[in-house]
Amino acid sequence: MCGISAYIGKKEAVSVVLEGLKKLEYRGYDSWGIAALNGEPAAFSVVKRVGKIGEVSGDYLKKAIKGESHIAIAHTRWATHGGVTEENTHPHLDCSGKIAVVHNGIVDNYQELKQELLERGHKFSSQTDTEIIPHIIEGLIGEGLEFAAAVREAAGRLKGRSAFVAVFAATGQLAAARKGTPLILGVHEDNSDELFIASDVTAFLEHTNKVMYLDDGEMVLLNGRAMFFSLETGKEVWKRVVEIHWHAGAIEKEGYDHFLIKEIMEQKDTLFRAINQDDAKITTVAESVKNAFGTFFVGCGTAGKVCMTGEYLFSKIAERHVNSVVASEFANYQHYLTPKSLMIAISQSGETADVLEAIEVAKSRQVKVISLLNVFGSTMMRKSDDFFMVNAGAERAVVSTKATTAQLAVLTLLAYATAGKLQDGKLLLMDAAGSVNDMLNPRYEEHIKKLARLLINKQNIFVIGRGLNYPMALEASIKLQETCYIHSQGFAAGELKHGPLALIEEGTPCIAFVANDETKADMVSNVMEVKARGGYIIGIAPENNEVFDYWLKVPDAGDASPIVNIIPIQILAYHIAVLRGLNPDFPRNLAKSVTVK
Ligand code: F6R
Repeated sequence: MCGISAYIGKKEAVSVVLEGLKKLEYRGYDSWGIAALNGEPAAFSVVKRVGKIGEVSGDYLKKAIKGESHIAIAHTRWATHGGVTEENTHPHLDCSGKIAVVHNGIVDNYQELKQELLERGHKFSSQTDTEIIPHIIEGLIGEGLEFAAAVREAAGRLKGRSAFVAVFAATGQLAAARKGTPLILGVHEDNSDELFIASDVTAFLEHTNKVMYLDDGEMVLLNGRAMFFSLETGKEVWKRVVEIHWHAGAIEKEGYDHFLIKEIMEQKDTLFRAINQDDAKITTVAESVKNAFGTFFVGCGTAGKVCMTGEYLFSKIAERHVNSVVASEFANYQHYLTPKSLMIAISQSGETADVLEAIEVAKSRQVKVISLLNVFGSTMMRKSDDFFMVNAGAERAVVSTKATTAQLAVLTLLAYATAGKLQDGKLLLMDAAGSVNDMLNPRYEEHIKKLARLLINKQNIFVIGRGLNYPMALEASIKLQETCYIHSQGFAAGELKHGPLALIEEGTPCIAFVANDETKADMVSNVMEVKARGGYIIGIAPENNEVFDYWLKVPDAGDASPIVNIIPIQILAYHIAVLRGLNPDFPRNLAKSVTVK
């Protein structure tokens, strides 16, 4: 979703923030803009464009931004309030043109605040909620407040989950406030020479891997050095410098055409890293599950399907009932919660607004929250009682792949630990990870590409599975929808005959996960029912079957079958997208870090 990249320092600021924005492109956006402070007296040069950053030449930028600048703020916008237009693109300025603001998130009470500002004579040029922020700051400075105090006061008036960065041309100061949406400072050892602020460390990782986290309810003023304050009390807050262990190379394509295929291939290593959990940590989390009176696995989208797989894994391996709940629905379950309940929140980004809200609901009922995360230092990590990591490394493609299989691996391990069989789980998963390593070879990819050529013009693809692989049927559909823009639906295989079978026509593709487990015989019967109605059967199975029209072989991975089964689908979705001329890294309308409800 929206990205922020801001810089103050000795370098040419526009190039720094522009490079930062390019690093944030993966989050998904519709338009982008930069405001740079330059000239004498200092004034803002502003550039706003609809579309992608790559479509604009350096020469155009040089013409638009007059003169060298050492302070700049930049933004990629994923439209919420107001259409995708240059007027609605950030940065937004106040009436005097002296205050520029970029903003992530949503101001819930913007209508009433805008009304007040209109009554005081402020003029607006966009439909965004963001534009009220520079005007509020302008009004407060007009009443005699200093810039930092005005930023603090303005932040206090905003309701909802958001964060913003503001620059004041009159003093050359830059300030940022956080209320629910992440902002991170990039610093050097001496916390002086140059400072970066971004919604995501990737924006400045090539300059520094030392960061200071702005927490919720805090602001920072960059005035030679970074000074942090509590928004509530105005008191200065002490921050430590944290070193991030992702290196800049981890967020490059490294020879691959797209991040998506790079990240799919990285599963050769990421699964081993995910399994390599500290035994004591996994055992502690397993103990929490055992002691809880009701465990809820909570996530969104693909992570939500991982949660659902967790329900099956715990039933089968640990003989324990756990609940999986889609995060946006979690509040409706709060009536069951007690201080003995446990929430295990699962998220790649650790920033998903729906999950954060679910955590808040859980906390309000004294529920213990443990998060399974991929991004160290994320908001979820900071809001949870405890956390453990999947260690998949930076995931840049909007479409989740390596983080998903890493989450599945850790949940499988947790189910085994809860059953008191952690080492058995490790052995099973090591085997599965080894098999994935063997699977991810050019010949296998070519075999899947051949299938992709057969499917590129299909309007619908159905996916069926049972047991552990029912949630994977749902996940496979998400992969096909978002990557290839093909309508796809996943079903519990037994459900087809209760309605959806009516949609099967001659040649309708149906992907079937036929694992070598207790579901196999019933799966084969369901597949036959589809075949009898003309369905084109793509079997994902360790063994071929005469009912399959196309067989994608997967290793026989036992309880780890969801992990090995989803991988050919990831590759298939990637190749269909490329063959259809789509950019698999940036699905339309979607964003990587979904920071709005
Ligand atoms: C689909 C996908 C999304 C995410 C969902 C949650 O490929 O990536 O469905 O799984 O938006 O995101 P996180 O895991 O960051 O909470």
